[in-house]
Amino acid sequence: MLTELLEEANRQLTICNACRYCEGYCAVFPALEIRRELGRGDMVYLANLCHDCRACYYACMYKPPHEFAINIPEVLSAVREQTYSRYGWPQFMTRLLGSGALRTVVTSLVAALLIAAGIALFAPNHRIFGVVTGPESFYQLVPFLVLVSVFSGLGVYVLAVIVASGLKFWRDTQGRLRDMLSLRALRAAGADTLQLRYLRGGGEGCYYPEDVPSMARRTMHSLVFYGFLLDFAATVSAAVLQDFLGVLPPYPLLSVPVMLGVTGGVMMVVGTTALVRLKQTSDARPSSPSMVVKDYGFLAALNLVATTGLLLLALRDSPLLGAALAVHLGSLVILFLTMPYGKFVHFAYRYLALVQSSVESRRTEQWGD
Ligand code: HEM
Ligand code: SF4
Ligand code: SF4
Repeated sequence: MLTELLEEANRQLTICNACRYCEGYCAVFPALEIRRELGRGDMVYLANLCHDCRACYYACMYKPPHEFAINIPEVLSAVREQTYSRYGWPQFMTRLLGSGALRTVVTSLVAALLIAAGIALFAPNHRIFGVVTGPESFYQLVPFLVLVSVFSGLGVYVLAVIVASGLKFWRDTQGRLRDMLSLRALRAAGADTLQLRYLRGGGEGCYYPEDVPSMARRTMHSLVFYGFLLDFAATVSAAVLQDFLGVLPPYPLLSVPVMLGVTGGVMMVVGTTALVRLKQTSDARPSSPSMVVKDYGFLAALNLVATTGLLLLALRDSPLLGAALAVHLGSLVILFLTMPYGKFVHFAYRYLALVQSSVESRRTEQWGD
């Protein structure tokens, strides 16, 4: 199936290379000009460079029903989806955890039930439904050592799989190891990432949900992206308070971890909800169904983590604290476990593709001089 998909992508991109009408929209078309003989790795690279802005789909005079049947966003997102499955390791985890909103919600609930059972069994003085207040109330339900061991273990696993997958991607897409360390390319790719430059399409935004350009998707992605970073910063600041200043959770509303966490959580809830809405109302023709399933799975996982985090804050002085903690930790476990296999991993491949694009375009400029 992958071979057929790559052949189809090759057919379409060969026509684009002759046409070149969409040259100015994004980095894909200039990169296509540099790599004229398209092998499997080249296709994987171009697919991860495409930001799915859809400008080329609506501009194309050869899209269906024309006999050339050109649909670049669809075919490249199908190849991207295969990248996530192909580079993830081990393969059975990719099959188990790679996709689906329903699967994400169900597995999160199963994980939450297991954690609730653990609390009921191993914290016998504090039933799952009981009021637990004061410093260390969370740790009376789930011991600190258990929390730290589980989440640092998961963190190391996620990082190791993503780094290994990224290296495999880099080798397959013909990246040289020393280019990966080029400060100039890393900086240029960083700037493209932070601005989501190629979601601008021809300049006015991506064609989402319909054939009128808008900045909605770019703005909502930024809310999710920066919200996620704020929540990460909240966790780091809580660790500093606890381990270096000896102040134990739960923290007051006007403390750094809670303020960062609430701001990030609200940004993630708003951003993921709006992205789901945009997806539901969008034109299905330029999308690949397998990628849409992965998108919903990731959006559900992020939304669940953020919503249950906010719920935990609201319920922390109530008898529902234990249940809320179990559901929040369950959704976090599933987010961590799905990170290397689902849509989350797009950040690694996309960033590497942008680094590669920066290196190649600079090299071409130098040859041109
Ligand atoms: C190098 C960093 C990143 C880049 C360049 C990037 C870029 C993109 C692009 C171009 C898309 C739309 C095309 C597609 O569906 O693949 C997308 C989708 C998405 N990204 Fe990112 N992203 C990055 C990091 C992140 C992070 C850290 C998060 C949150 C944890 C995130 C959340 C999402 C979500 C939820 C979607 C799906 C949106 C939808 O369904 O329309 N991204 N990303
Ligand atoms: S997408 Fe269509 S218009 Fe754009 S370069 Fe390809 S063939 Fe030409
Ligand atoms: S969908 Fe947008 S980013 Fe992707 S190839 Fe077309 S113009 Fe480029």
